[in-house]
Amino acid sequence: MTSTESGDFDVVTGAFSYSGAAIASELQAAGRRVRTLTGHPGRAPAGTAIEARPLDFTDPAGLTESLRGARALFNTYWVRFPHGQVSHETAVAQSRVLFRAAAEAGVRRVVHVSITHPSADSPYPYFRGKAAVEVALRDFGLSHAVLRPSILFGGSGVLINNIAWLLRRLPVFAVGGTGAYRVRPIHIDDLARLAARAADSAQTSVIDAVGPDRPTFLELVHHIRDAVGSRGLVIRVPGALIPPTARVLGLALRDTLLTGEEYQAMAGGLADTEGPATGDTSLMQWITDHKGTLGRTYANELVRHFR
Ligand SMILES: NC(=O)c1ccc[n+]([C@@H]2O[C@H](COP(=O)([O-])OP(=O)(O)OC[C@H]3O[C@@H](n4cnc5c(N)ncnc54)[C@H](OP(=O)(O)O)[C@@H]3O)[C@@H](O)[C@H]2O)c1
Repeated sequence: MTSTESGDFDVVTGAFSYSGAAIASELQAAGRRVRTLTGHPGRAPAGTAIEARPLDFTDPAGLTESLRGARALFNTYWVRFPHGQVSHETAVAQSRVLFRAAAEAGVRRVVHVSITHPSADSPYPYFRGKAAVEVALRDFGLSHAVLRPSILFGGSGVLINNIAWLLRRLPVFAVGGTGAYRVRPIHIDDLARLAARAADSAQTSVIDAVGPDRPTFLELVHHIRDAVGSRGLVIRVPGALIPPTARVLGLALRDTLLTGEEYQAMAGGLADTEGPATGDTSLMQWITDHKGTLGRTYANELVRHFR
């Protein structure tokens, strides 16, 4: 693939990681050529047709070159939690670098993956940062669509898998508060279909990417417990105990299991939406269908992105 063949390829961030991989497969299945921007070119599956270029924010000219001639940029870039020199603020600044590069390269369309309920007024840096990135996208004047998922599941997803992992191994699983807050995950393949469709349109759009199931967190945990055959006791504890408990478990696992912000945002209803489902795959059915493999191995976020 050369960078001068205009519009005959798409650029996807993180095509060897999680949602980017699903988006890249969806595009390839539709006959599109895909180039990825990634910090992990070594994770390319053997024989992949996806061309890897560096997701190097210190080299804006290189990013522009990698984006030149692309029909669309599918942007999944974000950092889940601050670690070392990386923070949500740096992720906002780096997202701007990427959008500027896309604008300079003349990319025709940006499909951007955000989060449900981003807000400049949010007490949570993740949600404030996501709002700032959406504003930056608008400010660059790029034709765009924003997809806002709450939680992703399917493939090598972390959250549902690691709940199952804990339920398989520990005698007790603690749910914060009443556990009555709802979550509305979407399957990554449904997200990928929405993304591919959004690239084909020229309209500015902001879509909540949410699935048909909307269990309370307590219902979700019980469902996973039953599916994987766990005998663990599911108990409710004051919400304030969840972040320190997750920190201790994280130390043992050498990972960041769940941040205080992630727990509070979920308990505050930010992983739920009122509107219609935009994904088809039932979370609860998917858990049942994958009960044999779910949570067999632990998915370590720090290994994926920081080691
Ligand atoms: N996962 C969820 O449950 C969830 C829920 C709601 C919203 N979202 C949103 O969906 C989007 C994609 O999430 P995902 O889980 O699919 O992410 P991902 O595949 O793990 O990562 C997406 C991209 O961000 C890069 N990245 C991630 N952490 C990084 C770090 N610490 N330093 C440098 N680059 C980093 C990855 O780089 P590499 O290519 O090098 O891996 C990849 O290009 C994000 O915008 C996220 O906010 C995700």
